[in-house]
Order: sequence, then C-alpha cells, then structure tokens
Amino acid sequence: MADLLLIEIGTLAGITRPGKLKLVGNEMASLGRINHAYLYMKNGLIDSFGSMETLPLGIKNNTAIEQINCKGRFVLPCYVDSHTHIVFARTREEEFEMRIKGKSYEEIAEAGGGILNSARRTHEMSEEELFQQALGRLNEVISYGTGAIEIKSGYGLSLAGEIKMLRVIKRLKESFEIPIKSTFLGAHAFPAEFKNNQQAYIELIINEMLPAIQKENLADYIDVFCENGFFNAEQTAEILSAGKKYGLKAKIHANQLNYSGGIQVGVANNAISVDHLECVGDAEIEALKNSNTIGTILPSAAFFLGISYQPARKMIDEGIAIALASDFNPGSSPSGNMSFVFAIACTQLKMTPEEAFNAVTHNGAHAMELGKEMGSITIGKKANIIITKQIPSLAFIPYSFGSNLIDQVFINGKKYE
Ligand code: NIG
Ligand code: FE
Repeated sequence: MADLLLIEIGTLAGITRPGKLKLVGNEMASLGRINHAYLYMKNGLIDSFGSMETLPLGIKNNTAIEQINCKGRFVLPCYVDSHTHIVFARTREEEFEMRIKGKSYEEIAEAGGGILNSARRTHEMSEEELFQQALGRLNEVISYGTGAIEIKSGYGLSLAGEIKMLRVIKRLKESFEIPIKSTFLGAHAFPAEFKNNQQAYIELIINEMLPAIQKENLADYIDVFCENGFFNAEQTAEILSAGKKYGLKAKIHANQLNYSGGIQVGVANNAISVDHLECVGDAEIEALKNSNTIGTILPSAAFFLGISYQPARKMIDEGIAIALASDFNPGSSPSGNMSFVFAIACTQLKMTPEEAFNAVTHNGAHAMELGKEMGSITIGKKANIIITKQIPSLAFIPYSFGSNLIDQVFINGKKYE
C-alpha cells in the first residue's frame, strides 16, 4: 500500500485523542484542529500528523512517499453514516407526489404503500440486481465523503426476502474497502397477510429468520421500527431479547412519528443507539441521560417528510451524546449526502458546525461500534479522509449547503476513484 503525505494543509480538523469513544453533551462543541498542518498515512492508517514545522525530515525528504499539497483546504475524517437502508429495489417518487398533494406518510403506508410497496418490489428483484443498484448508491455516497456505513435489511419481510437482502449487504462488505455493518430489520412492518395475526409474524422473525441469519452470519445488529401502527413497545422488547440470544445488539427506530415508548425500550435493552427521535420529551431525555445508548438523529428524514425536527439542541444541552446519520431510503430520505445532513443539523436543529461535525463523524462511529478505527484524525485509525475544495472555514460546508465541497476522498490511504 502506497504511503501518502499531505502537506501545507490549511486546517486539519477532527483531531481527537486515542481512546475517546463518545462525545457527550457539551464535549461535542469542541473540535481539535491544527492550522498549516501535515498528515502522514502509512499502510492504510493515520501514522502521524502535526504542524508543518514539526514534519520530520525523514518523511519530508523521502522520495518514495507521494505528496499532495493541500493549501487552503480542510483535511477531515470521513463521514460515518450509522443508519441507512441503501439496499432497495426502486425509488418511490410517486408517493412523494402523493404527499405533496396532501396524503401523510402514515396514510400511504396504511393503504399498502410505503415499506410494503418497497417489499413487493424487493421480492420481484433478483439478488444480483439489488446488489448492482446498492453498489451504485454506495459508490455515490463514498464520493460525497462517507467512509463507513451501516446498512439495514427490512424490505424483505419474509424469510427468503430478508436473507436475500442480508446476502446483498454481505457481498457489499466483501466488495468495498470501507467498514460496513449489517442490521437485520425484519421487524420493519407487518406484511399484509399478517395484519390480523401480528404474533405469527413475530414468531416467524424469532423462530425462522434469526436462526437462518445466524447460520450464515449475516447480521451485526437487530432493529425494530417501534412506532404506532408498526411494532409496539412490548413487541419490540420481545424481538430485541430474541435477537440478544443470537448475539445481535440492538439499534432501533424510535419515536419518529409518535411517543411510542421506543426510546425507553431501546435503553432497557442496552441498545447501541435509538434512531430518529422527532418525538422526545422529558421522560425520553431522562432515559437517554442515564444510559450508554447514543441518540442518532436523522434530520433529512424529518426534512423530506416535512415533520417537526428533533430537539437536538435541548438534548445536547441536557448532556446527551448525539450522532447524525442520513437514513438513506426510498421513502423518507432518498439521499445519503452527509454534507446535507451536516447542513440541516446546523440550519434547522441549531447545532453548531463543530457539534454537527462531531455528530457526523466521531459519534457516528460510536453508534456503529467503530470508535476505535473511524471518526477522527487519531494516530492508528483508518486513513479514511476527506480533502475539501479551498474553503475559508468548517462552517462554510453547512453554510454552502447546495454545493459539493468534498474534493477528494481517501479510503485506507488510497484515493477513491
Ligand atoms: O427510517 N421509518 C422507518 N423506516 C424508514 C423508512 C422506510 C421507508 O419508507 O421505506 C425510515 O424512515
Ligand atoms: Fe431508517
């Protein structure tokens, strides 16, 4: 693996000390940075960095090391997108138009659209085609700066369908150099044939899907869409404790549309993260405050559905750790552009650029248990990094929300083409 030296960096930002896994509350406000810096990447890892004055001559004068001049640019750790559904069969812009004309997301779902619509199409599509489509999306988001990603199943909703999706994710893991985590979301919606016998579908998840997933080692985590009209808190608890028996830790969808008790049930089951969080009051804040569970906010889903944003400001001020993710999916967030997530977090959630940047990198890594290898400029972490275009400040990225300011992406120290 070629070694690479970035010199004359305008600002190297996102530096954290080794061993710091999660930034909580007001810790999110500070961002380690060095102006006029160098960064040396060796064997795919961050080997050393510092101000240009401290660059060792042995590295500087070694002609075997490729050098890139980064004058006027920011060098940053890659984004870590800890919540996506990028394996799906087709986009759903016709539902988008129905919502423009007044139908709600829930009404569309009740009429057999939404997740069930994607499930039908996933059923009809071959594993190969699903893989090819997801591959295209993954290449796109890496070019936008994503250097690690979590991907969920959940449009299969049958034994064969869920296994097919999880096999696609497994192939993506094998085909890409970025870290990928796989989450089993069989409990995304009740298939129509189980509408009047929900317990039978839960038993299918527990007695057939989970053992099959374990057999092929297809998942790292288990997820449930805990929401009124989908899975209630008791059903969620039952599925999460079954998942635990198969070694799957929880990362769940909670409190997007209602006060569903999802945050409390996630915390009670030691979830790594509870995600969405549009509906958060004092009880939910209390539950999160006294836990190891991180709150993952998905503001582009609230943006796209036109629902109220998450109370991120209050949560951070109360001392909670927040991660931000894209939720890239065909129904509620058809974009995996993390610079856009960064921008809405600042403009709509009133997170400062430093807080939001920590949430799309450092805390995102924690939300998928990659805190030791991703999420910051730290010696020994993966050399998955972004070089921006020439920009005057970090704030300029969310400020210029429609522009792509990501110039180059490096994965394991190699330029991503
Ligand atoms: O995270 N809320 C549940 N699941 C997805 C949306 C799924 C869909 O509409 O296809 C989400 O928003
Ligand atoms: Fe989601």
